[in-house]
Amino acid sequence: MVPVARRVVRTRRELSDVWTVEIEPGADGCAFSPGQFNMLYAFGVGEAAISICGDPAKADRLLHTIRSVGKVSAALARLKAGEMLGVRGPFGKGWPVEAALGADVVVIAGGLGLAPLRPALYSLFAERERYGRIVLLCGARSPDDILFRAELEHWRTRLDIGVEVTVDHAGRDWRGNVGVVTTLISRAAFDPAHTVAFVCGPEVMMRFAAIELQKRGVAGEAIHISMERNMKCAIGHCGHCQFGGDFVCKDGPVATYARLGRRLAMREL
Ligand SMILES: Cc1cc2nc3c(=O)[nH]c(=O)nc-3n(C[C@H](O)[C@H](O)[C@H](O)COP(=O)(O)OP(=O)(O)OC[C@H]3O[C@@H](n4cnc5c(N)ncnc54)[C@H](O)[C@@H]3O)c2cc1C
Ligand code: FES
Repeated sequence: MVPVARRVVRTRRELSDVWTVEIEPGADGCAFSPGQFNMLYAFGVGEAAISICGDPAKADRLLHTIRSVGKVSAALARLKAGEMLGVRGPFGKGWPVEAALGADVVVIAGGLGLAPLRPALYSLFAERERYGRIVLLCGARSPDDILFRAELEHWRTRLDIGVEVTVDHAGRDWRGNVGVVTTLISRAAFDPAHTVAFVCGPEVMMRFAAIELQKRGVAGEAIHISMERNMKCAIGHCGHCQFGGDFVCKDGPVATYARLGRRLAMREL
């Protein structure tokens, strides 16, 4: 429960309101599973749950990508190299990358949702030969809101990954797809009966992505989504993050659509 004080190594502005903060690892490194999160404490301001978004194989680099939306996230995003913050974690159940061995993998990201998915992508790419087709579908509000753009462009040059990017709206100079990310699902190349899907983004986007995947024949048990709820303890004690019968901090944040889908639909009514 006690945050450990760590130093910021460097920061990088990703988008107008999004920064990546690299934090020094602990003495024993910073082992984590793709999809897990840390509780980051901005001293004197407060704590927020932030996903770990670096490469799980690089135990010397602890990365978090933060959108400045309120008091705590703004303070975290403003941190500069050399400044201190508190870190607790890693917490939660992440993307079941091992469960996808031998299967096609469809990764669908909306906006900042690409950050929690990036460690899973690094793990898939590290053992590329152990999976079937890998398809990455990314949506952003506009071309200026595309997260990790240079990396996406690099991945697009690979012949063993299908990468599609779409934006909700764009000016005349945009030559790519326009439309919500779910419109990419119907034409993506994968075998629905042997597919595992990882989906992260706004709840409404995850719900409609899951509906489209199911229309193509992917089972709800094979669709994994990542939930966001306000966290306090992050260890299943306080009940703050309760979502139906689950605590998002310890039973999630990643869970199957088969388990959470009905509850997502009820919240939107
Ligand atoms: C498991 C988990 C992983 C997360 N990973 C990340 C991450 O990698 N990067 C990241 O930036 N955030 C992430 N979040 C969300 C982050 O924890 C919240 O944005 C943060 O707690 C907001 O705290 P605040 O004090 O800055 O804002 P608050 O004062 O709590 O909120 C300020 C305003 O912003 C709105 N708001 C809050 N959160 C969001 C949001 N995510 N998007 C849009 N509006 C919002 C609120 O409704 C409110 O109107 C994650 C949350 C969870 C549960
Ligand atoms: S944050 Fe306390 S139970 Fe999940």
